[in-house]
Amino acid sequence: MPTIVTLIFLLLSIAIIVTITLVQMNRKQILSPGLKYGIVLDAGSSRTTVYVYEWPAEKENNTGVVSQTFKCNVKGPGISSYGSNPQEIAMPINDCMNKVKEKIPFHLHRSTPVYLGATAGMRLLRLQNESAASEVLQSIQTYFTSQPFEFRGAQIITGQEEGVYGWITANYLKGNFLEKNLWSAWVHPHGVETTGALDLGGASTQISFIPEETTLTFNSTLQVQLFGYPYSVYTHSFQCYGRDEAEKKLLASILQNSNNKSGIKNPCYPQNYRTVLTMKHLYGSLCTAFLRPENYSPSQSVHVIGTGDPVLCREAVSTLFDFTSCRDGEECSFNGIHQPKVKGNFVAFSGFYYTVNALNLTGQFSLAEFNSSMWTFCSQDWNQLPFMLPKFEETYARSYCFSANYIYYLLVHGYKFNAENWPQIHFQKEVDNSSIAWSLGYMLSLTNMIPAESNRIWFPMNPSLFAGLLLFFTAVALLCLIFLVYSYVRSRMRKNTCHVEHVFAVE
Ligand SMILES: *[C@@H]1O[C@H](CO)[C@@H](O)[C@H](O)[C@H]1NC(C)=O
Ligand SMILES: *[C@@H]1O[C@H](CO)[C@@H](O)[C@H](O)[C@H]1NC(C)=O
Ligand SMILES: *[C@@H]1O[C@H](CO)[C@@H](O)[C@H](O)[C@H]1NC(C)=O
Ligand SMILES: *[C@@H]1O[C@H](CO)[C@@H](O)[C@H](O)[C@H]1NC(C)=O
Ligand SMILES: *[C@@H]1O[C@H](CO)[C@@H](O)[C@H](O)[C@H]1NC(C)=O
Ligand SMILES: *[C@@H]1O[C@H](CO)[C@@H](O)[C@H](O)[C@H]1NC(C)=O
Repeated sequence: MPTIVTLIFLLLSIAIIVTITLVQMNRKQILSPGLKYGIVLDAGSSRTTVYVYEWPAEKENNTGVVSQTFKCNVKGPGISSYGSNPQEIAMPINDCMNKVKEKIPFHLHRSTPVYLGATAGMRLLRLQNESAASEVLQSIQTYFTSQPFEFRGAQIITGQEEGVYGWITANYLKGNFLEKNLWSAWVHPHGVETTGALDLGGASTQISFIPEETTLTFNSTLQVQLFGYPYSVYTHSFQCYGRDEAEKKLLASILQNSNNKSGIKNPCYPQNYRTVLTMKHLYGSLCTAFLRPENYSPSQSVHVIGTGDPVLCREAVSTLFDFTSCRDGEECSFNGIHQPKVKGNFVAFSGFYYTVNALNLTGQFSLAEFNSSMWTFCSQDWNQLPFMLPKFEETYARSYCFSANYIYYLLVHGYKFNAENWPQIHFQKEVDNSSIAWSLGYMLSLTNMIPAESNRIWFPMNPSLFAGLLLFFTAVALLCLIFLVYSYVRSRMRKNTCHVEHVFAVE
């Protein structure tokens, strides 16, 4: 009986050794090791950012292996500002692309994909003047045909895509989609919830999360399948509710309600701040065009004086939101948009992060803490700000008080966060040096690096695991062999002994 069991063990061990060796050798042939690269241009309303990502070629379908190696801010405004002079767009982009060329090995240039995704700034330009928008994209296309990289197109993405790609990026970087188990296989993590994503750009803002009840299907719930698992993501993009457009709308409505049409007081600008803006700055955008006065003249100037009044600023910000149009009984954010109750953790990046960072806050903190920091900041005199901010730039510095109030109002009254679940929002701009931005999710999706179906089983073992398994089963096989030989020899000896005894007994 033990002999048969041992024999089975021996055969099994040999079979396993042969199998894992074959699998490992096969994988080795398929996989070409080394790094791969991808480039994404995030063409936002206020600026363009070039991101370079890299990953080990043989692991490209794993989760969490893509990381950002380089980032370059293109000088000048966003691409939507080039509507009247599209040919001038190439120069500033080229400065960044020259730096990118140095970061990627020369022999990989031709096989490195480049994507350009444009967001709300271009969505607005397209609505305003379609031919101007397509000329801008055409100009970019022309520029990239002269570049060594594999250009995969310049596109205006929708607000929903922007929201979902941001959500994918945040969860990919936080490792929420898959985790490695004890045996180095990728499995769906147990008990790990996905994180919601809050993005604040210049022209639009996005909220994306997985709501409590997924049975109700609304327009705004998208089904995405990642690594073999389905997710129902609620996402909404509020056009014109980005930081810059919201501020323009605030200034325009202050001017509209003011008796003095050439000078206004802005409670959200710091005390003693003075500036002169053009009517075009306030009303040039599609978001404020409907507020234009009858005698609108783009070059006319408006004097703006800051009064730094937190109470009046909060009040002015509240007029940007419309809560009257929510239908009874339906859960709503604002402007009549359906939104289920917020649930779980959230990560708030881009404009959300930069604003709280200016208030010396980061990560998680209480709503009261945010309110009091904002209150202190908004009461400062303009002359104090250079000493309070790590980097002082006029257009940013003057607007932080507004942005902070805007964020407060948007998150608390708009999305309905409260003192209890506010600390579940993580204000964060990156994970392990990779920026949280829609661009990574966009590239992962367009290169199919997040397969819809999971094919985790045939991932190659790492060399030490392979060597360990090989050693273990070889040892088992050897032990079995030794035992078999030993028991064979013993049974031969016993047979001989029996025979002898038998002979003896007879005689
Ligand atoms: C990754 O997945 C894609 C699509 O499923 C496939 O074509 C590609 O060969 C995979 N790459 C590797 C290295 O397994
Ligand atoms: C739209 O843009 C084109 C190209 O820049 C320009 O020629 C045209 O005048 C613009 N149209 C309007 C209505 O602004
Ligand atoms: C869904 O979208 C359609 C068309 O875009 C719209 O008419 C309808 O009101 C939307 N429904 C909801 C629940 O938002
Ligand atoms: C915010 O802080 C200010 C000053 O500390 C306080 O007067 C105000 O009531 C607070 N607002 C809320 C909503 O907590
Ligand atoms: C942030 O902290 C620094 C150092 O403690 C301080 O000098 C600065 O005034 C603070 N800024 C704000 C906005 O509170
Ligand atoms: C992030 O960047 C810093 C500085 O470039 C580097 O020292 C650090 O090792 C990086 N961290 C990771 C996780 O890559």
